[in-house]
Amino acid sequence: MKNVLIINSSLNAEQGNSAKLTKHLAQHLSAKYQSNVHTVNLYAGAISHLSGAEMQAWMTDANDRSPEQKALAQISDSYIEQVLAADTIVLGMPMYNFGVPSTFKAWVDRIARAGVTFQYTAEGPVGLLKNKKVIVVAARGSIYQGTPLDTQTTYLSDFFAFLGLQDIDFVYAEGLAMPAKDESMAAAISQLEEY
Ligand SMILES: Cc1cc2nc3c(=O)[nH]c(=O)nc-3n(C[C@H](O)[C@H](O)[C@H](O)COP(=O)(O)O)c2cc1C
Repeated sequence: MKNVLIINSSLNAEQGNSAKLTKHLAQHLSAKYQSNVHTVNLYAGAISHLSGAEMQAWMTDANDRSPEQKALAQISDSYIEQVLAADTIVLGMPMYNFGVPSTFKAWVDRIARAGVTFQYTAEGPVGLLKNKKVIVVAARGSIYQGTPLDTQTTYLSDFFAFLGLQDIDFVYAEGLAMPAKDESMAAAISQLEEY
């Protein structure tokens, strides 16, 4: 846990419950392992939807890209560089309308790049990332862990496994819109302090 990348997706940026928890984890890891922590906040305006022009820029040979395509390709390149530089990826993951935040999905669309982070072979897709731990800090208004309504756990496990990362943990702070919010946050914090 020397180089930690935190991707927060709360629409409230660092004020979100998930971001408060990932900040706590960052402080804990910095104190315990002297980790270098890089935090990215994906809120509306900080990241846009992937466009056709941006994808076209990826598919154009780097030497043949126009200045506009170079700038477009750089968006995904820099998110991928951040992932490559990390040994631990921490996701501040709110549940919004039974799924992941749309800003996080826009990040996912930048990270999954054929020939860069995965490739198709005769046997099917193969992830090109390795030796990274993923920790998901999941914040929810209600309680869904272990039920079919928790679409995030399977989706995130499947997505990172597709890229080659199978080592994924989930720390849940659920019921945050319910009376026991403080207990739920405290339980998540003590779980995070076990790292
Ligand atoms: C747009 C929106 C949609 C939400 N949808 C759900 C939901 O489907 N299920 C749920 O349990 N909580 C839902 N919530 C509550 C959030 O999961 C809860 O506020 C959590 O703390 C969000 O994380 P954050 O504080 O880091 O943004 C929603 C909140 C917002 C703002």
